[in-house]
Amino acid sequence: MLSRRLSPLLLAGALLALPAAAQKTKPAKTKAPAPTASPADKAAAMRTYVDALLAKMTLDEKIGQLNLLTIGFDVTGPMVSKNVDENIRKGLVGGVFNTYTPNATRKLQELATKQTRLGIPLILGYDVVHGHRTIFPAPLGLAASWDMAAVERSARVAAEESSADGLNWVYSPMVDIARDPRWGRVMEGAGEDPYLGALVAAATVRGYQGPDLSANNAVMACVKHFALYGAAEAGREYNTTDMSRVRMYNEYLAPYKAAVDAGAGSLMSSFNEIDGIPATANRWLLDDLLRKEWGFKGVVVTDYASINEIPTHGYAATEAEAARQALAAGSDMDMVGETFLHHLGAAVKSGQLSEAQVTEACRRILEAKYKLGLFQDAYRGVTPARAAATMLKPEFRASARDIARKTMVLLKNERQTLPLKKSGTIALVGPLANRQRDLIGPWSAAGDWKQAVSLEQGIKNVAGNGVKVIYAKGANVIDDPQLIERLNRDNGLLDLDPRPSEQLIAEAVKAAQQADVVVAAVGEAAGMSGEAASRSDIGLPGQQLELLKALKKTGKPLVVVLMNGRPLALPWEQANADAILETWLAGTEGGNAIADVLFGAYNPAGHLTMTFPQNVGQIPIYYNHKSTGRPYDSVAPDKYKSRYLDVVNEPLYPFGFGLSYTKFSYGKPQLSKASLRPGEGLDVTVTVQNTGSYDGEEVAQLYLRDVAASVTRPVKELKGYQKIMLRKGESRTLTFHLTPDDLKFYNHDLMLGAEPGEFRVFVGPNSRDVQELSFTLQN
Ligand code: BGC
Repeated sequence: MLSRRLSPLLLAGALLALPAAAQKTKPAKTKAPAPTASPADKAAAMRTYVDALLAKMTLDEKIGQLNLLTIGFDVTGPMVSKNVDENIRKGLVGGVFNTYTPNATRKLQELATKQTRLGIPLILGYDVVHGHRTIFPAPLGLAASWDMAAVERSARVAAEESSADGLNWVYSPMVDIARDPRWGRVMEGAGEDPYLGALVAAATVRGYQGPDLSANNAVMACVKHFALYGAAEAGREYNTTDMSRVRMYNEYLAPYKAAVDAGAGSLMSSFNEIDGIPATANRWLLDDLLRKEWGFKGVVVTDYASINEIPTHGYAATEAEAARQALAAGSDMDMVGETFLHHLGAAVKSGQLSEAQVTEACRRILEAKYKLGLFQDAYRGVTPARAAATMLKPEFRASARDIARKTMVLLKNERQTLPLKKSGTIALVGPLANRQRDLIGPWSAAGDWKQAVSLEQGIKNVAGNGVKVIYAKGANVIDDPQLIERLNRDNGLLDLDPRPSEQLIAEAVKAAQQADVVVAAVGEAAGMSGEAASRSDIGLPGQQLELLKALKKTGKPLVVVLMNGRPLALPWEQANADAILETWLAGTEGGNAIADVLFGAYNPAGHLTMTFPQNVGQIPIYYNHKSTGRPYDSVAPDKYKSRYLDVVNEPLYPFGFGLSYTKFSYGKPQLSKASLRPGEGLDVTVTVQNTGSYDGEEVAQLYLRDVAASVTRPVKELKGYQKIMLRKGESRTLTFHLTPDDLKFYNHDLMLGAEPGEFRVFVGPNSRDVQELSFTLQN
């Protein structure tokens, strides 16, 4: 085989000796078209190149390109790939994931380019979800910044680091709309809102891919999980989803579409079924919607062994049938399952599939490799020296700290408990106060938890010597030995303190008694959110609430610092703590960033992008719900209304909520018109003033409701926001422009349009505390 292998650099010459059919095409170019070439020229050059290559490929080689294997460090599914090197040599592998570092990736590319007949390079992927080596906050936190430049910057840094580590493909962004915090993967996404989710999706894709995917420091985004994965019933991982098309189009699809429009090179299909058909084999989803309606031209990769699971769903009798279904539906690349490898050849030979179907899937994978510049340099300039100079650069760490501060949400702050003074004594208690591992959270790619700055260290760094810190653990983060054992199998690094919980709490109480203020770092261990980490109880785990109750009894001001990957149910905490700061899973610079906020070096400005419920029974709970025919009205309560007997309808903290150390007041908003003709837009103006005693940032939000339409519309939908910095006393008049598109929705026939009638506009600092106006769209 070795002697017949063609180096990509020799391809152009070698192609001159192609069979007649292939020779009809122009000789392939090995160099990218000139930067000045038009998009059409570039596409034509790619087509020529890939056509020529395809013409040389055997059916088996084409099928090999559709095979994605895992090798190395992380396993996220029930099977692992075997004999990867050998299969690469045989030309039976198109891509590999879970391997990084310059040396390891070079070795793989050498196998592919030097030891296979055609020398086609591999596409090398990895779950780079919120940073690669420099870990940024969990995506749910990033979204809470409402700062798209920050989101894009975090993805850019991840691209710089991962590309320097030999990767060219990242399995991110996860853009699944999620309204059920029991689902552990809410930490990977932007939350419950399609408008904000779409902005985050596009910003992340831009950050990874940059202006030119063939640049050595760009990586191809893989938008996931297409589609509706966040709507798993009961928040239980891998569970069924089912929803109407109207809901799908209006409330769930926008972020995927935005990522596609931003140029995302690939998409990953989801594990769930849609309309009774597993996404991986759903032709309507992958072909009609994605390729035909949206014009997506990139690669669709399956999720981990999801073709093998099609029979388990009950949609195919055999794996062979599942493989045929998946390819015919539009899946191009089979992640780990090797079903394409084992079954497509026979399916083509027996006429159940055409070779053209395999060729199309292969073409898309080769095009992805072409766009990444892999045919010119399979190593993309990766060297150990470049990697050493890139990883965890001071400027990347500085970005991680700066961005982490922006993600933090101040949920409560009575009597100006925060910011803390840089003097006196602080009792720093709680199981997460000195943990590094949990700060970088799940999906922390190649992040090294030892690089993470703990909160204890961050407080020392920021507060300096003027503050005395007394530390006490107070509680284990989890008390259940079985759960600890399970999380430790995935590098949870948790231990169970052998001391009785009363003793741990007593120590913390003693520390509190000697202090001026208590800072309690509580929440979830890293492994309690992320994949396969659904929870049915979303309160603080273990004895942490008992710890807080004991601390409260000391009478000392109680600051609760939350570290968690999902909205939690915190009714006691909200009623009793003096201050609550949501810090998510804050990343490598987490401790410094949290301390910056606690001591006022940064005035918090994060706003929630997912509703926090009062309790699990309220779930699913989200601000953009429908009215129902019997909405509950607390002013005129009535038995036969949509409500619970034992809990209010309102959440603990609504979507968009977040406080600041300063105060903002909103003037009366105004509309530029009360009546619009079709196709017209209008302006909404509102003056926001900083009336408190700190400079600070505010996120002014604009929501819309279509009062009566041909399908019912949500009671409120985010349509715009502005994040502004106001100095103490400063005020600014903001103008939001509502466009004709903002009034549109998908009707029962899935046609997009605006319908005449009354619209209500809501303006305010969150989705609850709004002022209302109204206008009419004329016929
Ligand atoms: C997850 C994906 C991930 C893949 C590869 C799957 O289990 O659902 O999000 O990209 O594994 O690790």
